[in-house]
Amino acid sequence: MAKTRTTYLCRDCGGVHPKWMGRCPDCGGWDTLEAFREPEATATVGTVAGVALRGEGMGEDGSSVAELTLSQATPLPDVVGLEVPRRSTGVAEFDRVLGGGIVPGAAVLLGGEPGIGKSTLLLQTAVGMVRTGGRVLYASSEESPQQIKLRADRLLGEDSEGLDQLFLCTETSLVRILEQIRRVEPTFIVLDSIQMVHRTDLDAPAGSTTQLRRCCHDLVQAAKVTQAGLVVVGHVTKEGQLAGPKLLEHVVDVVLAFEGDRDRGHRVLRAAKNRFGSTQEIGLFEMTEHGLQEADQAAEAVDAAGGGTPGLALSATMAGTRCLPIEVQALTATGFLGSAKRRASGLDANRLAMLIAVLEKHGEQRLADQDIFASVAGGARVVEPAVDLAILMAIAGAHLGRRLDRGTVVLGEVGLAGEVRSVRHLEQRLREMGRRGAKRALIPGVQAAQGMTLGVECVPVHRVSDALAALD
Ligand code: TYD
Ligand code: MG
Repeated sequence: MAKTRTTYLCRDCGGVHPKWMGRCPDCGGWDTLEAFREPEATATVGTVAGVALRGEGMGEDGSSVAELTLSQATPLPDVVGLEVPRRSTGVAEFDRVLGGGIVPGAAVLLGGEPGIGKSTLLLQTAVGMVRTGGRVLYASSEESPQQIKLRADRLLGEDSEGLDQLFLCTETSLVRILEQIRRVEPTFIVLDSIQMVHRTDLDAPAGSTTQLRRCCHDLVQAAKVTQAGLVVVGHVTKEGQLAGPKLLEHVVDVVLAFEGDRDRGHRVLRAAKNRFGSTQEIGLFEMTEHGLQEADQAAEAVDAAGGGTPGLALSATMAGTRCLPIEVQALTATGFLGSAKRRASGLDANRLAMLIAVLEKHGEQRLADQDIFASVAGGARVVEPAVDLAILMAIAGAHLGRRLDRGTVVLGEVGLAGEVRSVRHLEQRLREMGRRGAKRALIPGVQAAQGMTLGVECVPVHRVSDALAALD
């Protein structure tokens, strides 16, 4: 038998090294390398960690697994394009982030701080999958079936009819989880969370690098063999530590992060990696008394017909294919010349500094002794240049005590020469804001022709000074 090779994995960045070192050359972390033994080649096709998930391994579907192991190099034009089959998870916002549903056999890693709502999201997804005709195994390594039932009651109220295809189990042993997969034959598997799961035949404690990599690897394998969709939860602590998700990113097909402010209700689901779709799309949710509400209209917090106060400017930002209204707020206060404060919240601080300089130079305002604070309402984070002009107008309005008319949207990138540059997807932004009640829009002069027919009164501006003229 071939000797199993030992490599050293970094607990923080997942880097692989042939020798132990005190410091990881990839991420510079001290004492983060742990010994890791490569899994031996799986003995039989269809068998994972000794559990035969598929008969003799050569069933109707088993052949595809055999092809996998005997793959041949094929010239590109001969590769037959595969229509990726997807199953809806029953949660539209989750589907959106996955790229239109979960791909059978795909493995998804869901990371997020404790308490953010991962278990809630997955239980809702499990219910959604069952309601759309799936068969789900929800394995928890942290909570008892009773605790999960309590959460389900909270989510569903009395409405727990028709959920006999949702199977719950509490298990920390990997082999027993695989055994459950064999018995239940689910189309969708949830494991909440991977951190506590272990293989007893490994000489390493639960939660260590070796256990995590091996167990995750085995589960991914099991999903491939049974063609079930798999979602595995990994915790991230505030410092991003724990022999955690970073290490598993290479093993899975999709890496999702569930984020948000724990004190506020809003939650955002993002993809950091997606082998089957874009990583631009985001899912929006709101945590309520009865679980996560899908918030397609989440940005209702921003009133597109509002504004009309000095220091406020409405704009629209793109998140994937979706357009979200935002409200930029600014405040200026007299500070000390030479040490004026500039603070950005939800915005890029460097961009803010640049916009202030442009406003001084091309808007002829004296801001050197002004403390300037700028933020995006609602806790969103906006890094798109298309909102430059809105930030600049909010600051100018705050400083001069002048306002934009109610329902005025500001769109445009600002250049260092004081020019207003074009933005992507102008039409979509205008349409969306118009639908939400916006009346007027300042748009880049070079795109004047595009905005004229869209029901929102468009004011083309070529330079920052033109835009400032729109302030009353
Ligand atoms: P949970 O899903 O357990 O978080 P995680 O698995 O990421 O650790 O839920 C976290 C919080 O959500 C918890 O503090 C309670 C709250 N919550 C609600 O506000 N409404 C609900 O309906 C549920 C189920 C939970
Ligand atoms: Mg949980």
